Amino acid sequence: MNPYDLLPRFKAQYDANNQEFSISGVVRPQAIDELGPSIALLRDAIGRVRGVLYVNVRRLTQMNNAAFHAFSRIILDACRARPDLKFIVITSSVVGWTSRKFGRLSGIEPNITVEEYDSEFYPGQGFLEEGGFVPILRTQTKMTWRHERAILPRHGMRPGIVMADICCGIGDFAVLVQKEFQPSRIVALDHSRSSLAYARNVAAEFDIKGIEYTYGDASEMLLEENQFDLVTCRHSLQVFNKPELILRELFRICKPGGRVYITNEKNSHCLGEPRADSIQWTYNEVAKLWAHFQMDIELGPKSKRYLTEAGLEDIRVESFMVTNHDGDPQDFADVIAAWENVYAGEMATKRGDTPAFIRRFRQGFQDHIFAALHSKGYAGWPIWVASGRKPL
Ligand SMILES: C[S@@+](CC[C@H](N)C(=O)[O-])C[C@H]1O[C@@H](n2cnc3c(N)ncnc32)[C@H](O)[C@@H]1O
Repeated sequence: MNPYDLLPRFKAQYDANNQEFSISGVVRPQAIDELGPSIALLRDAIGRVRGVLYVNVRRLTQMNNAAFHAFSRIILDACRARPDLKFIVITSSVVGWTSRKFGRLSGIEPNITVEEYDSEFYPGQGFLEEGGFVPILRTQTKMTWRHERAILPRHGMRPGIVMADICCGIGDFAVLVQKEFQPSRIVALDHSRSSLAYARNVAAEFDIKGIEYTYGDASEMLLEENQFDLVTCRHSLQVFNKPELILRELFRICKPGGRVYITNEKNSHCLGEPRADSIQWTYNEVAKLWAHFQMDIELGPKSKRYLTEAGLEDIRVESFMVTNHDGDPQDFADVIAAWENVYAGEMATKRGDTPAFIRRFRQGFQDHIFAALHSKGYAGWPIWVASGRKPL
């Protein structure tokens, strides 16, 4: 990551409602006096709370030893003076050193617990971050790209811009954008190390330069605010239980006058002929299955509401249908087979679905594949594209 991307200074805050003291940024004081106000704030927080004090270091990118000792000393002393008080230090894998370093404090004092908040967060995310889904993202992007390449210029894409693709997955969208539109800089961020490794390998293999693949958490990014002309986030708001938290971050890093661009689905509107009823039943069930894991695969048509509520203006919404007539029907069939594999496999099993349900559930995917490959068939997958401008 480039140093100029990082949050520049440090900031300490206390949120009385949540009993949470947070410190973020780069804490490298030359003299310990520089920490005076933050230390006073922590002391004051300790004096006020009962039960638990949360110490949030999720965006603490750097802290020198002098500062670490100054803050730890206060917490350790408080544990001794106030045995009734518990400290929960919230770290993030994005700044992995925090878990290691603050972890040592819990070894010294049992009243200090350290939790890496993103190790198990977002109920359904694990299905999509790792494993079987990764290869199919490439085919999905290939199919949507034929539509998006024509749509993107209406949403702020043009040569020379600085852009970020948040939740970039395996990074193929960034590569396609770079080839087609030549932005001056692309930052592509994801929370899946295996997807990023895949993206970096592809970039190395095809000698693609100029895309900065970055590990991060979209709900709490270390990217500085107001720096991108276009912030894209494709097929991903629908995987979060609280999409508004991600949108807040997309808004924050976007320049005033720049645009935030999102794409999402409404899976219950996937369709096919022949065997329309079976197909429709299955995709209605997909929507319920995602909802069970607190994800909203029906988010597409809600885009305007989300963008408006995020504070964006000049909202533009369009939709398109990926179909088996777009290119090689086998591509579409492969995508459907991958959906079946994950949804009727790991996800349905985890929800505890019966074998009879799973059989019928699978049948709809098989019928969709049949429709896609049939010489007289039609299979469709609708996508909603939307963008909004950050006010000046
Ligand atoms: C459905 S995929 C979409 C990927 C890509 N945008 C595409 O269209 O192919 C969702 C992506 O969100 C990523 N993701 C999930 N939680 C994240 C988080 N907290 N921060 C950043 N990325 C996250 C996953 O790793 C996954 O790559």
